[in-house]
Amino acid sequence: MGGMARSVLGFQKALPMTDNALPESVRLRPMLQADLPSVHCLEVMSQPLPWPLWLFRRQLRSGASCWVLEAGGEIAGFGIVAIDKHRAHIMNMCVAPGYRRRGLGRRIMLHLLDVARHRHCRGAWLEVRRSNRPAVVLYRKLGFRTRRICKGYYPTRRGRLNGTVMVRPLRAPRSEKH
Ligand SMILES: CC(C)(COP(=O)(O)OP(=O)(O)OC[C@H]1O[C@@H](n2cnc3c(N)ncnc32)[C@H](O)[C@@H]1OP(=O)(O)O)[C@@H](O)C(=O)NCCC(=O)NCCS
Repeated sequence: MGGMARSVLGFQKALPMTDNALPESVRLRPMLQADLPSVHCLEVMSQPLPWPLWLFRRQLRSGASCWVLEAGGEIAGFGIVAIDKHRAHIMNMCVAPGYRRRGLGRRIMLHLLDVARHRHCRGAWLEVRRSNRPAVVLYRKLGFRTRRICKGYYPTRRGRLNGTVMVRPLRAPRSEKH
């Protein structure tokens, strides 16, 4: 059985959570090369237009800040931010279906924004499918606002979908303010 198949089984273990309790050990840690099959598996299960595996690998190699959320020994989510001078590009984020609506997406995004602040970014931006309501609502709650609509940004088998570019300003971390 290949690495991908093992990670699918591992992922499914996380799905049948019946109550709302999170496992005791939920933590964010840097993404490792060895996490890529599980991360990609999560992406494929969660996105209509998933990133290919090589794109995740490229993020790790290019020095983007890549994180996974571990819950009960499983990878329950991930988040990636690339820093370009003073702007942070939120590249991708995801929470496993069985763990959604428990504040973990918020936690991942707040962490990515903290990373960006500590790297002296003055703003953050991202692209999102207009139809991705969970993500759009989360981003709006965390202070992102629509900057512009990119017509036909996302290619699909049935045509192209519009993308929304959202931005938010960032303040310096408290300890660095004068
Ligand atoms: C978008 C995503 C990361 C949100 O993760 P999550 O852990 O469920 O988010 P949270 O629990 O932190 O939600 C925070 C707030 O976002 C909003 N939200 C999240 N999911 C929502 C949904 N399905 N419908 C409406 N609002 C939603 C709510 O306001 C929520 O607060 P509340 O639960 O107190 O009402 C998750 O749905 C996901 O992984 N989707 C697939 C991958 C994806 O689309 N990634 C974004 C790529 S741009």
